Amino acid sequence: MHNTNLAVENSAHTLGQRFVQLFGGSPRVYQAPGRVNLIGEHTDYNDGFVMPAAIGFYTRVSVAPRHDRKLVIHSENYSEQVEFDLDRLPATRAGHWSDYVVGVVKMLVRSGKQLGGANLLVDGNVPQGAGLSSSASIEVAVGYALLDLADQASDRTESDPNKIDRTKLALLCQQAENEFVGARCGIMDQFVASHGERARALLLDCRSLEYRLLPLPDDVALAICNTMVKHSIAKGEYNQRRAECESGVRALSKYLPNARALRDVTPEDLETYGHELPDVVRRRCRHVIGENGRVLQAAAALERGDLQAFGKLMLESHRSLRDDFEVSCSELDLMVELAKQAEGVYGTRMTGGGFGGCTIALVHAGCVEAFQRTVHEGYERSTGCKPEIYVCSAADGVGQVA
Ligand code: GLA
Repeated sequence: MHNTNLAVENSAHTLGQRFVQLFGGSPRVYQAPGRVNLIGEHTDYNDGFVMPAAIGFYTRVSVAPRHDRKLVIHSENYSEQVEFDLDRLPATRAGHWSDYVVGVVKMLVRSGKQLGGANLLVDGNVPQGAGLSSSASIEVAVGYALLDLADQASDRTESDPNKIDRTKLALLCQQAENEFVGARCGIMDQFVASHGERARALLLDCRSLEYRLLPLPDDVALAICNTMVKHSIAKGEYNQRRAECESGVRALSKYLPNARALRDVTPEDLETYGHELPDVVRRRCRHVIGENGRVLQAAAALERGDLQAFGKLMLESHRSLRDDFEVSCSELDLMVELAKQAEGVYGTRMTGGGFGGCTIALVHAGCVEAFQRTVHEGYERSTGCKPEIYVCSAADGVGQVA
């Protein structure tokens, strides 16, 4: 992706100009990225390990203070404007794009932040319903923007990005999603939107929230293939998988009293006690326990520059998600098969919550164009539907851009 920085600056500037047209004032512009998960799927809410990277698709938020207690939010994507009174925020979600903003505002207020009125203009290019975390990117962009605004209003004239605790921000945005929007997601998406870094994958321990940034080789592209099958994790399947994992832990903790989450169960434990579990629950547990091991092995492979080994782990992850966790679908499986056959592909798998959305392939940079062509043609031939393929590199997390 050439000239990404220039494109970002241009569009940040345009968003600022548009803000002035709509509201007047002197806005600041912030952005938070979408993400792709390289490996570690459905492990975050089991206190396990994940390895996502932030990608060069963003939600941008332009913001300036108001003199009253109103929040006026304009969405460029929906060409719609909504207003809230900070002292009378809605108690429940409305099933509207503004839920993400309101949820974050409510969590900020609950955490003790003094917020004043503000105008916000929101615009984004993260594909929606594609499993690339457009929702986390709006939450984190809005959260960061409002925290920075509150800090400017309180004690400083110049904002200091280091003052914002990115881990707290991620947790707060996850709470907004869990408690207001109604999806019981884990911490992965909000964390990488907050802490991601250019050219790095992020290895996160979802229990301790300790993380390490691992360099991704320059000559490897992240090819994200959108099946165009829309997914929505707010729908019941995601929460059901989570409940199945929790019931597995409850049953196993009879034998393993120290097991608080599937993170604490080893493959040997599952061998020994797995027959006590209903078949479906046992397979869900087997996926999560195996996947945690694969993430750690993948991190070691990346650190020694062994992309072949990394790629094999991605393929195993896909099989496990398809057969044991049952969150794939025929379009994702087809995309994986097509990518596997293309030249220069180290590995590929479904990415994100599943039931549609995208696959990720690690592709040698020199082979990317041929990859796009063959996968595109093959997918269209089999399904009659044109996929979208985004060639990305890892990008920075949330920050101020203008
Ligand atoms: C969604 C959730 C994440 C994670 C993934 C599956 O993206 O938001 O927290 O659980 O699904 O790995």
